Amino acid sequence: MSSQKQSVIILGTGSYVPENIVTNDDMAKMVDTSDEWIRTRTGICERRFAAEGEATSDMACAAGERAIQAAGIDRNDIDLIIVATMTPDMPFPSTACLVQSKLQLPNVCAFDVQAACSGFVYTLGIASSMLQSGNFNKALVIGAEKTSPILDFEDRTTCVLFGDGAGAAILTREEIEGVGILGTIGGSDGSDPSVLQQPAGGSAIPASVDSIQARQHYLKMNGKEIFKQAVRVMGQASADILEKVGHQASDIDLVVPHQANMRIIDSLAKRMKIPMEKFHNNLERYGNTSAASVAIALDEAYKAGRIKSGDIILLVAFGAGLTWASSLIKWH
Ligand code: UT7
Repeated sequence: MSSQKQSVIILGTGSYVPENIVTNDDMAKMVDTSDEWIRTRTGICERRFAAEGEATSDMACAAGERAIQAAGIDRNDIDLIIVATMTPDMPFPSTACLVQSKLQLPNVCAFDVQAACSGFVYTLGIASSMLQSGNFNKALVIGAEKTSPILDFEDRTTCVLFGDGAGAAILTREEIEGVGILGTIGGSDGSDPSVLQQPAGGSAIPASVDSIQARQHYLKMNGKEIFKQAVRVMGQASADILEKVGHQASDIDLVVPHQANMRIIDSLAKRMKIPMEKFHNNLERYGNTSAASVAIALDEAYKAGRIKSGDIILLVAFGAGLTWASSLIKWH
């Protein structure tokens, strides 16, 4: 059991998805696919694509503003801002800095975390440790992603899977023991980045006419390989966090998993022997929103009344890197 004398709790959550709904039938007008294939292989029915000119920071701000309102805090009390994203507005400055200004937050520590789809859960762990250190009091943490501009609409194996959106939470430290974020773990294996990557646009392959012509600025994925890894690391990360904080799978009231593929979530449920009724999924409506996925699902689950005081909640994610992360929360 965690021995911490203080707890880091989630004071409020918020989320935002763009208005534009793109159905599987809409996708079938762009690539050789069908509603039936996408539904049965992934569980996705539709996704949201951000408007032109609507950047990741705009969605991050919309979700962040809702989390501030839900937490009922004065925005001037926020002293830490972290945004998890693999689709920042630009390579630098960080999206977190843009959020700081757009939301008129104090001039505090702000930075981005790049752990792809595991980003929000990584960020919860980082913010929680920073709050536990005593050097920070209130954190705004956000997972935000505009995946649509990096989707290759000539590649049916990837473009049907992803969507845009943002989710946020306000974290604070409380002088109570044994509630809130009980623990978080993260892991990585960078031995084969090619299984899921955006090859160009960084220092290895800077943008050039060649890189554009070779379509290297789009997301590339070996779906089958990622699928296998995902099933393994989601299960392991869940088992590891339970062991770390001294809980069992049977203690869990709600699982909020990364929303990538219903078949991956089904495998996790079977492996953990947790019934699907204890999972909160929204994959059918939003597809895979990468770093935003767990954050949006957590906000939705709370607003839907699926989370009450004392509940044990497992967050678990995996993504490019590979990265994986899990967090166990006892709701305050
Ligand atoms: O956040 C992490 C991000 N990524 C993931 O989590 C992805 C994990 N992987 C997956 O979700 C699955 O592997 C996919 C959904 C990407 C693919 O499902 P699959 O069951 O592994 O399909 P597959 O790659 O084995 O493809 C089966 C068939 C192939 O045709 P042939 O070779 O059997 O004739 C594909 O060409 O399905 C075809 N196919 C499609 N057909 C219609 C692939 N994509 C599509 C499509 N529409 N969109």
